[in-house]
Amino acid sequence: MRSTLLVWAAAIGAEACQRERNFHSHSHAKRQDHDTSRAPLDANEQLLLDSFDATSISTWSYYYTHGAHVAGRNKTQAQWTADKWAEYGWTSRLDEYFVYLNYPVSQSLQLTLPNGTVFNASLEEEVLEEDDTSSYPNRIPVFHGYSATGDASAEYVYVGRGQQVDFDRLQALGVQLEGKIAVARYGGPFRGLKVKNAQDHGMIGAIIFSDPGDDGNVTEAKGVAAYPNGPARNPTSVQRGSVMFLSTYPGDPTTPGYPSKEDSPRADPSGSVPRIPSIPISWRDAQPILQALNGFGTNGKDVNRTNWVGAIPGVTYSTGEGSGATLSLSNVMEANYTAIWNAIGIINGTNQDEVIVVGNHRDAWIVGGAADPNSGSAVLIELAKAFGKLQETGWRPKRTIVLASWDAEEYGLVGSTEWLEEYLPWLKTAAVSYLNIDVAVSGPVPDFSATPDFHEIAAQIQKKVIWPYRNTTDRTLYDVWQTEAGGEFGVLGSGSDYTGFLHRGIACIDLGAGGSVEKGDPIYPYHSNYDSYHWMSTFGDPGFVHHKAIGQYLTLLLYHLSSDEVLPLNPAGYTSELRAYYKDLEEVVSSGNGTLDLSALSSAIDTFETYAQQFISLREFAITTNNTELITVQNHKARDFSRGFTSQGGLPGREFFQNLIFAPGLDTGYAPVTYPGITESITFAKDWKRAQEWVGKTANAILVAANMLKT
Ligand SMILES: *[C@@H]1O[C@H](CO)[C@@H](O)[C@H](O)[C@H]1NC(C)=O
Ligand SMILES: *[C@@H]1O[C@H](CO)[C@@H](O)[C@H](O)[C@H]1NC(C)=O
Ligand SMILES: *[C@@H]1O[C@H](CO)[C@@H](O)[C@H](O)[C@H]1NC(C)=O
Ligand SMILES: *[C@@H]1O[C@H](CO)[C@@H](O)[C@H](O)[C@H]1NC(C)=O
Ligand SMILES: *[C@@H]1O[C@H](CO)[C@@H](O)[C@H](O)[C@H]1NC(C)=O
Ligand SMILES: *[C@@H]1O[C@H](CO)[C@@H](O)[C@H](O)[C@H]1NC(C)=O
Ligand SMILES: *[C@@H]1O[C@H](CO)[C@@H](O)[C@H](O)[C@H]1NC(C)=O
Ligand SMILES: *[C@@H]1O[C@H](CO)[C@@H](O)[C@H](O)[C@H]1NC(C)=O
Ligand SMILES: *[C@@H]1O[C@H](CO)[C@@H](O)[C@H](O)[C@H]1NC(C)=O
Ligand SMILES: *[C@@H]1O[C@H](CO)[C@@H](O)[C@H](O)[C@H]1NC(C)=O
Ligand SMILES: [Zn+2]
Repeated sequence: MRSTLLVWAAAIGAEACQRERNFHSHSHAKRQDHDTSRAPLDANEQLLLDSFDATSISTWSYYYTHGAHVAGRNKTQAQWTADKWAEYGWTSRLDEYFVYLNYPVSQSLQLTLPNGTVFNASLEEEVLEEDDTSSYPNRIPVFHGYSATGDASAEYVYVGRGQQVDFDRLQALGVQLEGKIAVARYGGPFRGLKVKNAQDHGMIGAIIFSDPGDDGNVTEAKGVAAYPNGPARNPTSVQRGSVMFLSTYPGDPTTPGYPSKEDSPRADPSGSVPRIPSIPISWRDAQPILQALNGFGTNGKDVNRTNWVGAIPGVTYSTGEGSGATLSLSNVMEANYTAIWNAIGIINGTNQDEVIVVGNHRDAWIVGGAADPNSGSAVLIELAKAFGKLQETGWRPKRTIVLASWDAEEYGLVGSTEWLEEYLPWLKTAAVSYLNIDVAVSGPVPDFSATPDFHEIAAQIQKKVIWPYRNTTDRTLYDVWQTEAGGEFGVLGSGSDYTGFLHRGIACIDLGAGGSVEKGDPIYPYHSNYDSYHWMSTFGDPGFVHHKAIGQYLTLLLYHLSSDEVLPLNPAGYTSELRAYYKDLEEVVSSGNGTLDLSALSSAIDTFETYAQQFISLREFAITTNNTELITVQNHKARDFSRGFTSQGGLPGREFFQNLIFAPGLDTGYAPVTYPGITESITFAKDWKRAQEWVGKTANAILVAANMLKT
């Protein structure tokens, strides 16, 4: 049902680490500002932009992508990052936590056909001569972070993308699931939820494969050469990744709600990680496994589910019951409490009670990680350098800037969540905003998601930066974003390190650029060995020009947030968004079979609008009368009001997620749901009484935020 409310944002794959596609609600107001000309730059802005150099960024990228740096395994890289920032005038340090992680020991997967023929999955990505890090002796095996150790041998069922609706469809078709192994396609919901859904249906193991059906026309079947010879997906590429139940609880699952110190008490993690083993595989390994199901059960076409049928040659995507083929999988992991390191860099502002945090994670599933996450890491070094040059002119920011290079994001936002939990009392009072850059670049199309108070300034700054797009070199980022990427800000769900900040009521933005499948951009080898320096410099961003441009953008945004006398966040930006989400909610209500009184919510939005307008008027008055005390008062309101959207107890069944306006969908993990307490009471719990209670709670939260803006 919810799929009618969500449309593909033209499949712009600016892939945050744990987000494969960016969904938007359809009813957002498109920006009305059609002026795409370049805005003038002042001297500081010019200095910052001129400091950016694509060749240096490429050097930083090369460093990060030529040494294994799975979470908790490369302190040298953490220290190098902190040292680089120090070299550019930042006070830097490492913050260490002790967290529960697991690492691969051995994985195997065997297919046995009814006539006794055995096929061993290779579980290896091909070593490519062209791509130096694909052959590193310490390259990382294919595995799932936080997966369960175990063996499973049984018949298997193809379960589509493994979303709850897919399992509902299989049950309607009478397919027996209990005791079987699930074979699921990547795409759609966060991978951990595919495993969770299989487990909840009594299945004993899960295999998740990449499918060229996600690659549009950029496939070998359509005549496009595969990496390293061309932009199509290498058939042996495998998507690693975490299988934590991300939509319930991110962070170290053994320390819910408090930081992981060496002597911290530990909780049982079993509620947030799977009990059944799982392994990721390539489409080449998946082909014989799926072919063995051809002609058995229901043919994929007749299953009649969106994205059920993929594009592996010779496969009908049949459900497969009665095939007689079996799988044997073995997954051995080694779990431990281990140290992780966040590098932290600080420039003190003159206002100690206002702080802006800028973060990128550093850990990758592979030796490379050229896009995820180290395109962001390379950009942050260059950003640190630019602010270093500005400091040499005597400039000091008004607001304190904190740079963060997170560890263990890939396992489940672990480094950022533990840090947030440690510094929460300070952040709750002082944090003005959190800026996230994970996959800064995996293609040429810019993509932004943000809380609504960010929309105005985030769009304005786009006009100050040139975005090289295909063969053009004279268009602003704003122009390209408007004409090539739809020009709308996405709603934040989850899948990267902004999550904890967003759910403590802090204004957030997440930015990056990705490839468009429709426009035939190179296929980004997400979480595969081929997310390498070679791929990036050959296909992803030759010349590192998009790295440079997104870095310039982030730098100017940070400059204004930290330096402008009037904090450039606009609380009134929430009004139209709250109304758009309200319309979506009305559709959810009318497509359900119950009734709900939404008048409290509607009236809370009206109140919000009134007080947000009062806030804007008073801020204008403070500016025109040069009343600096009043400007400070208004700045603090803009900093604080969004704390009101949070509820201490969190959403139903997930205490961590406290933001009542947006949250990752329970069964999507990445994609957002708006007014989640109300919406999911209807779509998931089918509990209209609970939905009515959440109308009250959500309306109250909006009133709390509104009252903070009141004059
Ligand atoms: C850590 O990363 C650096 C830089 O990529 C690399 O030189 C080093 O070998 C890595 N260390 C380990 C233990 O893999
Ligand atoms: C920033 O200011 C705080 C409080 O005055 C002080 O404790 C800290 O040492 C300063 N840090 C830096 C990096 O200057
Ligand atoms: C077993 O079946 C597979 C798939 O139908 C076929 O390719 C293979 O040749 C068969 N092997 C034997 C020994 O019959
Ligand atoms: C498959 O792997 C098993 C155990 O790893 C091994 O004993 C067997 O010989 C392999 N079979 C083939 C056909 O490669
Ligand atoms: C497939 O599903 C759609 C929408 O759920 C429905 O309208 C259509 O009748 C179904 N087709 C078949 C063949 O079941
Ligand atoms: C577990 O971690 C501790 C401390 O981090 C380390 O000394 C020990 O070798 C690790 N054990 C395993 C099995 O990795
Ligand atoms: C840029 O222009 C060249 C020459 O016209 C063309 O071959 C190439 O495909 C263009 N590149 C892009 C990304 O559009
Ligand atoms: C693939 O190419 C066909 C024919 O040119 C076009 O109609 C279709 O939209 C393309 N598909 C995608 C996903 O770009
Ligand atoms: C509404 O739908 C739910 C499940 O879809 C069902 O359990 C319930 O009985 C229905 N209620 C009414 C009043 O039809
Ligand atoms: C505004 O007030 C501040 C301090 O009160 C003063 O330094 C500044 O010059 C004033 N600006 C204008 C434009 O009057
Ligand atoms: Zn990432």
